[in-house]
Amino acid sequence: MFTFLKALGKEIGSSRFEEDKVDLAKELLEKANEKGVEIVLPVDAIIAQKLEAGVEKKVVKIDDGIENGWMGLDIGPESIELFKDELNGAKTVVWNGPMGVFEIEDFATGTKEVAMMVADITEEGATTIIGGGDSAAAIELFGLERKVSHVSTGGGASLEFLEGKELPGIASIASKKKINSRKYILAGNWKMNKTNIEAAEFISKLTANIGKEKKFEVVIAPTFLALEKAVDLTTSTNIKVSAQNMYFEDSGAYTGEISADMLKAIGVEYVILGHSERRNIFGETDEIINKKIKKALEKGLTPIFCIGEKLEEREKDLTFNVIERQIKEGFNGLDKDEAKKMIIAYEPVWAIGTGKVATPEQAEEVHAYIRKLLSEIYDEETAESITILYGGSVKPNNYFGLFTKPNIDGGLVGGASLKESFIELADIMRDIIM
Ligand code: 13P
Repeated sequence: MFTFLKALGKEIGSSRFEEDKVDLAKELLEKANEKGVEIVLPVDAIIAQKLEAGVEKKVVKIDDGIENGWMGLDIGPESIELFKDELNGAKTVVWNGPMGVFEIEDFATGTKEVAMMVADITEEGATTIIGGGDSAAAIELFGLERKVSHVSTGGGASLEFLEGKELPGIASIASKKKINSRKYILAGNWKMNKTNIEAAEFISKLTANIGKEKKFEVVIAPTFLALEKAVDLTTSTNIKVSAQNMYFEDSGAYTGEISADMLKAIGVEYVILGHSERRNIFGETDEIINKKIKKALEKGLTPIFCIGEKLEEREKDLTFNVIERQIKEGFNGLDKDEAKKMIIAYEPVWAIGTGKVATPEQAEEVHAYIRKLLSEIYDEETAESITILYGGSVKPNNYFGLFTKPNIDGGLVGGASLKESFIELADIMRDIIM
């Protein structure tokens, strides 16, 4: 900014500026003037004699000039208000460059206030693009990187955007998800974790934070023992409860098993079926899973039907063959109306609990394939209405890329569903869904 102020003939003391760009700044100011474009520059600054924390600092009006030996290190309070007024109501904002030396807290106020304003207007519907390594670092430092439309460390790239070129990162904002095209779900599969007391404590945290979610469904799948408590604690919230398994018979001599009626009787609405751990550790076959799916549907439970290839299958290029077999066997005998009640979870086995997440492109490729398969088995309308979740090492730091993909309708989360990160995942979804 001091390059522009210098070009205007202001006294800028020892403030840093780009000497070789002063003429360019003059030229830009003239052009803007000719074309009636307003360039808003700071009217005051925070100055100090040294670029250090804890040193003496003062606020000066730019028109009064900055004396020698002092340098501008942040914008002043009047400028903050001025910039906020300008931002208020803006529809598109491209922010390239912080307001001051935000890395030192004494000089971070201007940058922080502007960053918060940018986040606020994003929430109100503006498209906000943060471009350039410094601005990107600032927005991250203030924890606002998920509250803006797009962050790019490439300052040059954001200039290209200004020239009218399409950037993939920005194009992806345009694919923010529309509410209600099909149901979006964030489901937590707790597997064999949490005692009843631990489950109750954690559910209270969830209900307080994401119990009123409207844009998507939150589902938790505790162990059988904690299901009843989970239903009780979530009754007056929007959180739904799922079992992790059930047996396909109604009742009888099946030691250790739980029936669909038993789950229904305590208010459970979903049931995870065909999880790879059930397939691989407990030997469940496609046929058994299909029987369970049919029973769940008959009793009014919604199956979350899991499919996914193993690493050696992917390496042998058999992913689509495996998926095709699992889908065809799982949906075997289901009519269109029953199919529409299904939730599918694509969980590549190599990504479960390994920290190795599928890239958004890898996941989207399989999700799109599943949808195509469903439209061949049934029809396009049916295929379009079925929610397909992704599962396998989902974490807050990789979820944005996955959930913004057109065929990924949410997540079935293991490890990250056992702690606060589940709430963070919900925050990410809320931000993405329009
Ligand atoms: P992780 O998220 O721990 O990889 O587990 C995924 C899963 O299996 C969910 O059903």
